[in-house]
Amino acid sequence: MTGAEVQASRVTGAEAQVTGAPGEGTAAGGEWAAEARRLARERDAVILAHNYQAPEIQDVADHVGDSLALSRLAARSTASVIVFAGVYFMAETAKILAPDRTVLIPEARAGCSLADGITAEQVREWKAQYPGAAVVAYVNTSAEVKAESDLCCTSANAAQVVASVPEEREVLFLPDQFLGAHVRRVTGRANLRVWAGECHVHAGISPADLRRKAHDIIGANPGAELFIHPECGCSTAALWQAGEGDLPAGRTRVLSTGGMLAAARTTKAPAVLVATETGMLHQLRRANPAVRWEAANPGAVCRYMKMTTPAALLRCLREGVTEVTVDPAVAARARRAVEAMVTTGAK
Ligand code: 13P
Ligand code: SF4
Repeated sequence: MTGAEVQASRVTGAEAQVTGAPGEGTAAGGEWAAEARRLARERDAVILAHNYQAPEIQDVADHVGDSLALSRLAARSTASVIVFAGVYFMAETAKILAPDRTVLIPEARAGCSLADGITAEQVREWKAQYPGAAVVAYVNTSAEVKAESDLCCTSANAAQVVASVPEEREVLFLPDQFLGAHVRRVTGRANLRVWAGECHVHAGISPADLRRKAHDIIGANPGAELFIHPECGCSTAALWQAGEGDLPAGRTRVLSTGGMLAAARTTKAPAVLVATETGMLHQLRRANPAVRWEAANPGAVCRYMKMTTPAALLRCLREGVTEVTVDPAVAARARRAVEAMVTTGAK
């Protein structure tokens, strides 16, 4: 799997475009973006946006990237304020890595169905069943769950983080079952137990969706490729189908969102079918406009990611809301696992 990626930096207010309807209280056209940039400067704030944010939010951010790249940026940021345009666990992770900074999230209700799939109490119960096992938590978890874990990872470095655990030690991987299956496949590790959680958006991209769309797109564009996020419900089936010759073996790739972007820059394929949240298509199209980028399931939209509207971002910058805090005792216990995450894998 390729490493985390972060895209080129600041887009000026004048260049930023509002592609959707601006939210209530926003200025028309690109004016809101100029105002957001002005407020960010005034507050000494850096705006970090995940690849699944709405295009207009990506365009106004200082940096757009995957979970790993954004965590690394938060850890080394010198800005007084980190504005995290993403979901809550991402902002919490930034706060764990940068405890002396003010971390703001434009919409505090932006949760994550995957992170909600396991509680700290459930982790404690699981650990009690397997004493001595190492707990590897995906970054899509609460701070309390991270505090119960030995190591943390993202989709960009999950296999490398698991491989860092001595071979004879059992691993409890949580909470995503599809990413867990992918890690087991890549590492060949038999002593890896996987929690049965899932992201409702990625799980909803079914093997049937992928197969149907893949046949259409390959039919119309011979040489087309498939990029599949490992959280997808179709990832295992796709690799199996590739092995059976039903999908193009050398052109079916399981990648983190950062990995997709790196692959986008070099692909010679005429078209690529993308199985992940549809916000990703914005960066892929910018990275390589010559390719026809197509969503495996255009309905794969994360409502939590799309809660960051221009209005919410402006309010966040103007009023300093909502500040993200993590109980210092929980943060102290979670920090070791999160620091291992940012130092493992490709830079
Ligand atoms: P990455 O950007 O790290 O691949 O994560 C995908 C995701 O689902 C975040 O919620
Ligand atoms: Fe969570 Fe899924 Fe949304 Fe990512 S796409 S934030 S995993 S609900």
